[in-house]
Formats: sequence, C-alpha cells, structure tokens
Amino acid sequence: MIKSVEPVTIVIVGASGDLTRRKLLPALHSLMCEELLHPHTRIVGLARSALSLEAFHQQLYEGVANYARLKPGMCERWPDFARRISYMAGAYDAGDTYQLLAAHLAQRDRQMGAVGNTLFYLAIPPHLYPTVIAQIGAAGLNRRPQGWTRIVIEKPFGHDLASARELNAQAHEVFNEQQLYRIDHYLAKETVQNILMFRFANMVFEPLWNRRYVDYVQITAAETIGVEHRSAYYEEAGALRDMIQNHLMQLFTFTAMEPPVAFSADAVRDEKVKVLRAVRPIAPDQVARAAVRGQYAGGVIAGSPVIGYRQEVHVSPSSQVETYAAVKLYVDNWRWEGVPFYLRTGKRLPKDVTEVAIQFKRPPFLLFRKADMPLESVQPNLLVLRIQPDEGISLRVQSKAPGEEVGLEPVELDFSWGSTLDALPFSAYETLLQDVMDGDATLFNRDDEAEEAWRIVEPILTAWRADRHDIDTYVSGTWGPEATVVMMATDG
Ligand code: BG6
Repeated sequence: MIKSVEPVTIVIVGASGDLTRRKLLPALHSLMCEELLHPHTRIVGLARSALSLEAFHQQLYEGVANYARLKPGMCERWPDFARRISYMAGAYDAGDTYQLLAAHLAQRDRQMGAVGNTLFYLAIPPHLYPTVIAQIGAAGLNRRPQGWTRIVIEKPFGHDLASARELNAQAHEVFNEQQLYRIDHYLAKETVQNILMFRFANMVFEPLWNRRYVDYVQITAAETIGVEHRSAYYEEAGALRDMIQNHLMQLFTFTAMEPPVAFSADAVRDEKVKVLRAVRPIAPDQVARAAVRGQYAGGVIAGSPVIGYRQEVHVSPSSQVETYAAVKLYVDNWRWEGVPFYLRTGKRLPKDVTEVAIQFKRPPFLLFRKADMPLESVQPNLLVLRIQPDEGISLRVQSKAPGEEVGLEPVELDFSWGSTLDALPFSAYETLLQDVMDGDATLFNRDDEAEEAWRIVEPILTAWRADRHDIDTYVSGTWGPEATVVMMATDG
C-alpha cells in the first residue's frame, strides 16, 4: 500500500528513555532517509529530566547511529533531522506541562502553516498512562482545531483483564477508539503479516487448515537472552504477560482466524476477535493441565556461564516470576474443534527462534512401508512458518528413499526469505509509525481484542498467583521445565 506523507507533529512522552533512543528515533530517522517523513514533520520530546537540547540530540544521535536501519553513515542527513527535534522538560502529572506543550504546538502550527496533525506516543512506564492521557484531555490536546490527533500506547496494555478494561475506559474518556493505536510490534514483522498472505493468497494450504488435517499447532518464541536490564519491569510481568498475552496471541490469531472480508483494520480485527472469543475458557481446576511455568536457573549459553533469574539485579531472591510459560488452548469452533494449540515462550532457552509449526495428521494408510514398520514411525507433514531469525517457510514431506528398496525418507521443501526476496525489511517501528501517520489501524490492537486476550490468560494468572509451591526451575540453555514435556506427552 502506498502511504501518504503528511506533515505531523510527533509528541513523544518519555523522550529521554530507552524506547525513544533505541526504537522510535532510529525508525523516524530511517523513514526520513526514505523520504517518508514530510519536510514539515517535527518531533517534540517531552520527559521529566532537565536536559539541554544538545544533550538530548546527542543521546538520540547515539541511538540512531547504533540502532537505525539507515544509520547516519548511510544517509547524510542527521543535521537536517536534528533540526526538527525539540525538547521540553516537565512533570507528567502537572497541568502546566501540558499548557506549555499546547502553546508550543499552537506556535508551531502558526510558524509552519502545518495542518495540525498531532501524534502522541506514550513511551513511558504503563502506570503513567492514565495520568498522561487525562492531562492531555484536560489541556484540550485530544482534539486539535485542525487535522487529526492520534495516540500510540505501548504494551503492556493493562496487567490483567480488570486493569485492561479500566485503561480502555480511561482512554475512551479522552479519545475515541479511532484515535487509539495499541501497539504490538510483532504485527509489524513481515513474516507475521506473511501468515495471512500465505494462508489467503494461496490455494494449496487453506483447504487443509482445519481439524480434519491438522493434528496440533505449536507456536514458539524462544530467546537465549535473560531479562537483561529490564528485571524491575519483568518482576511485575513474567513471561505470560510479557509475551503470551500479546505477541504469541497475535501469532495465534493470524494462524487460527477465518479469512477476513477485506484487508482493512476492522475486517481483520473482527476476525481476530472472533477467534479469541472462541478460545475455550480454562477452568480453574484445569490450569495445571493447560499451563506450565518455570524460571531459569544458572547454566551455560553459547559456551558461557550465565546466572539464574533470582541472582539478577532487582530480582527478589525468592521471586516466583516465570521466565518460561507454555499454554495449551482449544478453539471451540467448526474449524478447530479438538486441535490443541501450544503456545510457549521462554528466556535463556538454547536458541533464538520464533515460529509457528503446523503438525498435520498421518496419512490413514501407508503403502510404502516395510512390513515391520509401524505407521507411527513415519513422520507426518510439518509446516513451519519461521518468523525469525532465518525467516522463511519449510514443509516436511515424505519422499522415496534412494536405493532399490521401496522406502520413505522425510525431506524438506524450503523457502528462505533472505535468499529469495533480497530486501532489507523495514524495522517494526518504521512500519507501525508510518501506519499511524497514515491512519491505518490494521496492525494495531482494538479495545475488544486486548480484553479478549486478557480473558484467555486470566485464569492462569489467578491460579499461579494462588499457587504456594516454589516455581519449577530449568537450567539455562535447556528447553524449559520438565512439565512441558509431560504436558505434550500426556496429549500423545
Ligand atoms: C518484548 C518483550 O515485547 O518483545 C521482551 O518485552 C522480548 O521481553 C521482546 O524480548 C521480543 O521481541 P523480538 O522482536 O526480539 O522477538
């Protein structure tokens, strides 16, 4: 889709933080280099720290130099970019801050003759969202005299169902739903969007994409890193909230949803919500069978020793927070009845891999096996949508084993994104920022979608909170706690 390029004032609330430096400004810089930012687009950074403009620019420059897709060396326009960036210091809960901001925006509109388009980006800790949203509303900045006003809200959107509902209600007091863009950066990954293209732009797989042919689906997001410098946040979150409720749920909905009637924001999100609604609620007494959690202990990753989660700074030595979670979901609808979907994620696992694996059923009868060969020994077809790294798609099929005897050998048909489509993909934040400026909400969460995803994980959160047993651990560099293997084995 060709995106329009309109002048916008982007107000980043939380401009001195990591997200701004590592993701947002590098993305905006790359967009400018691609001529995808209007020459009159300006960036206003707002944060609590009293920073000089020079110090702020320096901080941003380092971020752009390190993290941008198009770095200053690849596009010699940093001075031009820096000229567009201003900085304001102020307390987030003080009305004065927003009055100053209002005056700043009004003056900018006069000087630039801009159309008043304003984009707020909340790059602040989630507990500040309600305060900042209310203050934006109180200063009348939620609807500017000209142009559009939109607001981007980062994940996590709430920390359980009740808080997500409350946050939706608070946000709706100030903004209407069309102004709200709830981000999940997984949706901007080309390989995640490609799940839809693969399913709905080809004839071959969709007829098989159902309970008659699919045995189970396994969605994995494994990381080798630990919690790094984010342990304070992680102590509040854990793997279920950090990854399953949002990123893995996006992979799940794209894999399980029905074809939308159009590739438009509401049509796509209607289907996503429908499939989330069809997920069977996990009864409290079923949580132990449907969900597994674990926490990494020390171990070895890539040949180097690493410490356990409880030894990380800012982590309680008796922390019960899970760094690994696996959840089994069933979708109660015609397409998926009886097919388990396993969603699993963890930190400090043996390798970095995010993928959706569709395990097909075995053929009902097999002509080509030797008499003593049990049907179970033949590996069924396996389709793997590799999200990252090594982006691509592979399909395991049975082939004739070489030689005179009649026999079978599994082989892989493989498509690799990098070698076939020679392109440097846009970063997730470039895609998403561009979409917000263009008013395209297809790749953002709607209010009901966020709430449904919380509804699904809520019984697990409740059961884990009430569980008095010490959490299972797993050695760093292994595939998580033993209980996952038990869950899969129990299901056969
Ligand atoms: C973030 C989580 O949203 O996604 C992190 O908070 C996680 O814990 C990250 O590491 C993974 O994102 P990606 O794009 O590297 O798969």
